[in-house]
Amino acid sequence: MLKDRKILLGVTGSIAAYKSVDLARRLMDEGASVSVVMTEAACRFITPYLFEAVTGNPVRTDLFADPYSHIELSKQSDLFIIAPATANTINKLSCGIADNLLTNLWLTYEGPALVAPAMNFRMYRSPSVKKHLKELKKNGVHFVGPGSGSLACGEEGPGRMEDIPVIVESCTYVLSEKDLAGMNILVTAGPTREPIDPVRFISNRSSGKMGYAIARSAVRRGAEVTLVSGPVNLVPPERVSLLSAETAAEMEAAVLKSLPKADCVIMAAAVADFTPREKSKVKHSKGSITALDLSQNNDILKKISKKKGDRLHIGFAAETGKDIKKAEAKLKEKKLDLIVLNDVQQEGAGFDVDTNIVTLIDSNNTITEYPLLSKDKVADIIFHKIRELKK
Ligand code: PMT
Repeated sequence: MLKDRKILLGVTGSIAAYKSVDLARRLMDEGASVSVVMTEAACRFITPYLFEAVTGNPVRTDLFADPYSHIELSKQSDLFIIAPATANTINKLSCGIADNLLTNLWLTYEGPALVAPAMNFRMYRSPSVKKHLKELKKNGVHFVGPGSGSLACGEEGPGRMEDIPVIVESCTYVLSEKDLAGMNILVTAGPTREPIDPVRFISNRSSGKMGYAIARSAVRRGAEVTLVSGPVNLVPPERVSLLSAETAAEMEAAVLKSLPKADCVIMAAAVADFTPREKSKVKHSKGSITALDLSQNNDILKKISKKKGDRLHIGFAAETGKDIKKAEAKLKEKKLDLIVLNDVQQEGAGFDVDTNIVTLIDSNNTITEYPLLSKDKVADIIFHKIRELKK
């Protein structure tokens, strides 16, 4: 999404200015070209030369160095991001004050804009900052953060510039086409854990990466997203409603709770098919059990297919081998609109990797095979297919 995009990065006078060097780097890693404009105060914290070395582009600081840079740079840019944005600059942006190159550029810029505030929490909660943040939001400016935690001054509270990966994701969000706007999508991700006793459980190798990539892509494309997640070590995407579930029964309850408002369900979770009949309240001692008595969990997709209506149901089939027949049988049994088959034994596919190799089979029996792709890309092809199915 950021490939070949021209990003204008405004840096203002906050201690967080040093973090923006990394931001510029990360944006460039995503394929963007970054031009930096700094206020005089920002140059007191960090030198323009550092940004110049990192971005390979000249850094502008002086309104009078070139008669037209306050117009030219803004015309050429696809996104204007100000990170960090101080209370002073935020208030000036909202009032239309143009007293340096950055604020002049803001006035001439007509594209999407993103602001990452950074300041002491007392400034952040001051009536004037609150008022001007509200005004900028009303005018369509996007915001990311601030985060909460220990501030440079040693105090605690909201005011830290948001973490760089979150800012990069927000840039992607702002620049993405909102072709799923109006849709409410329920995504499941990760494994479930079925307890044997307080310290042991039955689970599987799902990391949640596939489901989280789907949720991230749906948010970027403008959908309202509920993510029902099993226990994973991933940071949930911004803007999702997260429901955590440990066991298959909890996942089922979370899905049923969110179902009434969903018009599309995508089950990427690896739900345990069985659970120990007895869950001991104390730890089994060595040798005290030799076998587990298991009962079947409900099949969530099968259960919700009974009152499906117009809702789209997308399932995954995790198979050992590219077994199209098995995937087709699951598609029919669970009354799915689409099933995504992945052979979890193929290198680069299935569990706990950033890539997948999938075959899409829809209810009209159209079969489309894809090569090795990132899970983000797989999520995009699923949504492309969903848009086709909705026509
Ligand atoms: O999380 P990652 O590490 O990124 O790995 C991704 C993945 C391999 C987990 C994912 O790509 C995947 O294949 N998910 C589905 C795993 C699975 O449970 O497959 P299945 O063939 O057993 O189930 C078929 C479908 O029924 C799935 O959509 C599943 O969510 C659903 N199901 C299964 C069991 C159950 N009790 N209820 C269900 O709804």
